[in-house]
Amino acid sequence: MEELPLSRAFTLIEPGPVVLITTNDGTADNVMTVTWTMVTGFAPTFAIATGPWNYSYRALRDTRECVLAIPAADLLDTAIGIGTCSGADTDKFAKFPLTRAKARHVRAPLIRECLGQIECRVTDIVEQHNIVVLEGLAAWFDPAREEQRLIHAVGNGTFVADGERFDRREMMRSKLPDGV
Ligand SMILES: Cc1cc2nc3c(=O)[nH]c(=O)nc-3n(C[C@H](O)[C@H](O)[C@H](O)COP(=O)(O)O)c2cc1C
Repeated sequence: MEELPLSRAFTLIEPGPVVLITTNDGTADNVMTVTWTMVTGFAPTFAIATGPWNYSYRALRDTRECVLAIPAADLLDTAIGIGTCSGADTDKFAKFPLTRAKARHVRAPLIRECLGQIECRVTDIVEQHNIVVLEGLAAWFDPAREEQRLIHAVGNGTFVADGERFDRREMMRSKLPDGV
């Protein structure tokens, strides 16, 4: 075994997928890229790791809502572009080829080019650990999109797309709530 620098330990369990977080601060829409995400229950609840160094954070904190939009692999370069500039000085919806759609419950926009979207309410912000806790209000999926592989960041500017799919529904049956 080789010792791995602790700063790269996260790459061993990087959950992915890379997601986009849209916000609306009451004046303008913005979007950022986030790869540190977590599902915290079937409720449905989620968590993202982000903080005040990002412009989006203010909108998350003040409006208590966002859309968690999930791009497929065809949006990899767009997702990286979105995550390497800031809404503080850039209109990302003008800069990147994204089509906005109106969400049902929140002012933050859906993104038509994404494979899935979850409209969310911010239920908690754990400042000490830079964790924003989200509750899903509505979810959307576009089955017509040809590319359905999700993107996973594996550190050092490298990414993988979903690969082979394994069906273990029978083995998992007793652990899954109805319909999941
Ligand atoms: C692939 C990728 C993944 C990223 N993941 C995160 C993340 O998990 N949490 C975070 O706070 N920032 C993450 N970022 C950085 C933000 O997306 C970036 O700081 C962005 O410019 C913030 O935009 P804003 O200032 O308009 O909010 C990521 C960037 C890229 C390119």
